[in-house]
Amino acid sequence: MHNYKVKYYYTKGEILWKKVCLCRGVTKEQIIESIKNGAKTFEDVKEKTGAGTGGCRGGRCEGTIETLIKVYEE
Ligand code: FES
Repeated sequence: MHNYKVKYYYTKGEILWKKVCLCRGVTKEQIIESIKNGAKTFEDVKEKTGAGTGGCRGGRCEGTIETLIKVYEE
């Protein structure tokens, strides 16, 4: 089966695109906000923002969200 999970790309630690979850229109800023408010896993971010609940079930955005958690969690 084809794995269509999108690889995440970095430039100096920054995710380059604004909409991280295309299915639900969740932005990078919303996800960073949820991480700063205590989200520590993809499931936490999903619950707080709705990211990862769209048609692809996180196939396109999960990797990027996990990267943002690593970069922004304290
Ligand atoms: S891009 Fe996030 S659920 Fe599809």
